[in-house]
Amino acid sequence: MLDAAWDFIKAEYLASAVVPEQYPPGDMPEIAFIGRSNVGKSSLINSLCKSHKLAKVSGTPGKTRTVNFFQAQAKYNSEPPLYQKLFLVDLPGYGFARASKTDKKDWSVFIERYITKSERLARIYQLIDVRHSLMKNDLQCHQWLKGLDVDVRVVFTKADKVSQSIAGKNRASICRELGVVPQGAVLYSSTKNTGRRELIADIMRAFEK
Ligand code: GTP
Ligand code: MG
Repeated sequence: MLDAAWDFIKAEYLASAVVPEQYPPGDMPEIAFIGRSNVGKSSLINSLCKSHKLAKVSGTPGKTRTVNFFQAQAKYNSEPPLYQKLFLVDLPGYGFARASKTDKKDWSVFIERYITKSERLARIYQLIDVRHSLMKNDLQCHQWLKGLDVDVRVVFTKADKVSQSIAGKNRASICRELGVVPQGAVLYSSTKNTGRRELIADIMRAFEK
């Protein structure tokens, strides 16, 4: 018998938006994912939902250019089971060198509008590539989010691309610089689904408050 735990059992694409009028209606809580372009936001949503084609992924930075809403259903396998519907929200990446100035400005405006206007946003996960030391735009984004009064958490991506010891060291030093607790920052690999159960459990705890 499996330990009782939350899992995501169903997911579907719902809407893409650039202005609040295009956000899907309803009162389901939202979990959003933000991070540098190419860090693996869309891949992580696919991995959480056990899908390869829900969110569009690309090796070329700047793939996601709108705020994309995916409706997911979580199940807690107790007897009887519990269910919770939620939105997973994929945001365009920042720090995309080849984007035009106008594009960059437009995206930052609608990302900011989304974060400040969405009444259903329960938590935002900032994704950071575990292979590198902390980048300036990641630090700036983190400080900006903290200043906006949203519940922000860090997830480290691409954990399969470095050894466990390097991943652990980079997580510790980046978390120190950001002033967050390393134990609260999941190490994730979307190719291997490492950290999947841990992140789903963490996401579901956002609704317990
Ligand atoms: P934008 O939409 O441009 O902001 O990018 P994104 O953050 O959504 O990144 P995306 O998920 O499109 O992934 C970018 C590239 O990184 C793709 O080639 C993915 O296959 C790859 N990638 C993402 N996550 C992982 C991971 O955990 N491990 C490995 N090895 N590759 C990954
Ligand atoms: Mg993307």
